Amino acid sequence: MTKWYPQLDKLVVNLRRTQAAIVAMNNEKRPEKTLRAFSFKETASLLGISDTHLRNKVAEGDGFPQGEKYGTNRWFTLEEIIAARAHLYSSTGNERYKVGRGEYDGPFTLAVTNFKGGVGKSTIAVHLSQHLALRGYRILLVDLDAQASSTALFGLDPARHVGLASDGTPLLGGATLNPWIERRDGDEGEAARLAVARTYWPNIDIVSANARLQSAENLLSARQTVSRTGHGEDRQYDLEVKSFIAHVGSAYDVVILDTSPYINLLAVNAFTAANGLLVPLLPSNIDLQSTTEFLAFIAKQERHMERYFGAGWPGWSFIKLLPNRYVSQSRPQADIIDLMKNEMGDLLMQEFLVETSALGSANNVKWTLYEHMPAKSEDRTHRRALAAMDAIGLEIESKIQEFWGRSAVKEAAFDVEAAV
Ligand SMILES: Nc1ncnc2c1ncn2[C@@H]1O[C@H](COP(=O)(O)OP(=O)(O)OP(=O)(O)O)[C@@H](O)[C@H]1O
Ligand SMILES: [Mg+2]
Repeated sequence: MTKWYPQLDKLVVNLRRTQAAIVAMNNEKRPEKTLRAFSFKETASLLGISDTHLRNKVAEGDGFPQGEKYGTNRWFTLEEIIAARAHLYSSTGNERYKVGRGEYDGPFTLAVTNFKGGVGKSTIAVHLSQHLALRGYRILLVDLDAQASSTALFGLDPARHVGLASDGTPLLGGATLNPWIERRDGDEGEAARLAVARTYWPNIDIVSANARLQSAENLLSARQTVSRTGHGEDRQYDLEVKSFIAHVGSAYDVVILDTSPYINLLAVNAFTAANGLLVPLLPSNIDLQSTTEFLAFIAKQERHMERYFGAGWPGWSFIKLLPNRYVSQSRPQADIIDLMKNEMGDLLMQEFLVETSALGSANNVKWTLYEHMPAKSEDRTHRRALAAMDAIGLEIESKIQEFWGRSAVKEAAFDVEAAV
């Protein structure tokens, strides 16, 4: 019988090396990604104040962040924008500058999920994280898919940057959720420390993924068997993500879970932990069919949780279906969207994500819409995509604010007209 693994092992080593080289080259020789600064106009827009107001605040000083002047423009880092928002809040007491959760609210956990592959779960999870981060929320993004797309979008190479070094310290991207799932009683602090990593966004932390996440899945599966047969140690298998968030959640406003395109126990853990579900789908007949089956599955899952946890299960505060790769001129898509509007009512997002070359281009560096500074030629496409993503972010932010008992957000978060 042919043995494939010697050849495959060699191929994997070579491909990893090539991919790492491409990423490094495209990152302008920087091994890790960094976050760009924001122009004066972008900053005013993100703070929700006029240019004149911002100019006056900068001139007044009084601890207000000054940004840095390059030529005629002034640029601010996201750290400065966050500090500026806090400054505006403390000097005016106006609640609109205080976007995070209240003192007594828990973090909101959003699962981005659908067992259909390639519908934009990771793209949307990452963009939503960054949108909310620009708005000032403290975000934890948890990548629960061993394919590690969200991890890669944060400039982390799942093979090189994720896991433990030989001395047991976590690599740049942290050690996945594995240490948490494998922890012993009493080791919660250490397990969480190994799992969570900082990113180059000041207010986004990540729990990365890589292929080793499969061992966590296997462990959960073994525990599920134990719990069914009643033999051996009965540790939880469907509440690990929830318990993890309970442990680390005080540092965050919003936790976003990116799930895999199939139902495994990590996905079930995401359903159990979530306060709301965002279900991207493509507006085509075939996708609608699979999304229908997915909805049947989550209905079953919800019944199960209600029965199993009783009053301990708070329920999902919303489920939203988000059409992605929407092409407004497409007749077949328009028909499907009409059908969805009729059938789905409130479950359907009001805002859709358009099909755009600004996403999913052959761009190895994988800059997101919020990170990328478009060239003049890409400007219109980029703005259109950004406008769609902003509108989606705003709709979800409003639902999260409602969960915390506050009124919906009305202002645009990131006025694309202000982009340089
Ligand atoms: N609106 C869009 N326009 C163009 N390309 C898009 C759009 N949304 C997503 N893509 C591209 O489609 C591909 C799949 O997206 P993504 O990885 O986010 O999907 P996914 O649902 O997370 O996939 P998986 O099921 O494999 O986890 C990516 O290359 C992404 O860049
Ligand atoms: Mg994905």
